Amino acid sequence: NWNLGSFIEESIEEIRQKVGKERVILGISGGVDSSVTAALVHKAVGERLYPLFVDTGLLRQNEAETIIKLLQQSLGLKIHLFDASQQFLDRLKNVADPERKRKIIGNLFIRVFEKAAQDIGEAKFLAQGTLYPDIIESAGSGRKGAALIKSHHNVGGLPKKIPFKLIEPLRYLFKDEVRKVGTLLGLPHELLYRHPFPGPGLAVRCLAPIKEQNLRILRQADAIVIEEIKKAGFYEKIWQAFAVLLPVRSVGVMGDKRTYEYTVAIRAVESVDGMTADWVKLPPELLSTISNKIINEVEGVNRVVYDISSKPPATIEWE
Ligand code: XMP
Repeated sequence: NWNLGSFIEESIEEIRQKVGKERVILGISGGVDSSVTAALVHKAVGERLYPLFVDTGLLRQNEAETIIKLLQQSLGLKIHLFDASQQFLDRLKNVADPERKRKIIGNLFIRVFEKAAQDIGEAKFLAQGTLYPDIIESAGSGRKGAALIKSHHNVGGLPKKIPFKLIEPLRYLFKDEVRKVGTLLGLPHELLYRHPFPGPGLAVRCLAPIKEQNLRILRQADAIVIEEIKKAGFYEKIWQAFAVLLPVRSVGVMGDKRTYEYTVAIRAVESVDGMTADWVKLPPELLSTISNKIINEVEGVNRVVYDISSKPPATIEWE
C-alpha cells in the first residue's frame, strides 16, 4: 500500500539519473501502459523523449489521430507517426493462419520500429510500459528483453539482441495503479479507460482476407459497436467489446435484389483479468440497434451475429 505520489517523484529522479543527456525512444501503442510510461519519462527528460507511433494499417477507426491528439493536448507530447501500413498489408496478403499472422506482424513490427527509431536519431534507451504481471508472465521464458514488444506478447521471434538499454518505470505496478499514476500525471480519462486491444490489431479480428477493403468494413462495424455501447452506458462496465469480420458470406435480400455478403460477429465480454471471461447479456434493443446500423451503413455486410461463448473454452479474440 504505497504512496503513488512519491512513486512518481522517485521514478522521475531515477529516470533522469539513468538517462543523463541521452535520448529515449518509446513505442506508443494507444494503450494505457505506453501512455503512462510516456507521461512519466516526458516529465523526467522532456524533449529528449521521442515517442513513436507505428501505424501498422491494422488500427481502429481514427485511432492514431485520436491518440496523438489526446497525448498532445494533455502532456504537450510531440509524437512521431511512422506509416508502415502498406508494408504490413503486403506481407499479410493471402495469410490466413492465425499463428503465421502473429509471427509476421511481430517480426515486421520489430524491423519497422528499429528503422523508424534510427530515422529519428541515435537513442540509447528504449522505454516501455512493462507491468508487474508482464514480468511474471515472461519469467522463465528465457528470453532476455522479452518485453521489447510487450504489447505484442504472444508473437514469438523476438530479436536476440536489442540495440537499446531498457527503461521500465511501471515494472512494479498493477494495471489499476498504472491508471491512478496516469490520472495524477494528467492523462485524460478517455485514454486511461480504453478497452484492451491486441498487439496484432485488426489482423486477428479480420478472418476474411486481409486487405484494405475488408479492413475498412471491419473498422466501420467496430466503430458502430463501440459508439452504441458507449451511448448505452456499457463501455466502462465491461472488459471489452468489438466487431469481428467473418470469412463467411451468406444470402440476403435488399429491396428487390438478392445480396451475397459478409457476416460480422459482435463480441462483448466481462472479465477481471482477461484470463477467463463471460459474454455480456447486452439488452436485445441495443443488439438490435447495432445490427441495424451495421447492415444499413456498412457496405459489404448483410448479416450480424452475437458471440455467446465464454472463455474458456473460447478465447476473447477469435484468433
Ligand atoms: P484471448 O483472446 O487470449 O485474449 O482470450 C485475452 C486478452 O488479451 C488480449 N490479447 C492481446 N493483447 N497482444 C496483446 O497485448 C496480443 O497479441 C493479444 N492477443 C490477445 C485480448 O484482447 C484480451 O483482452
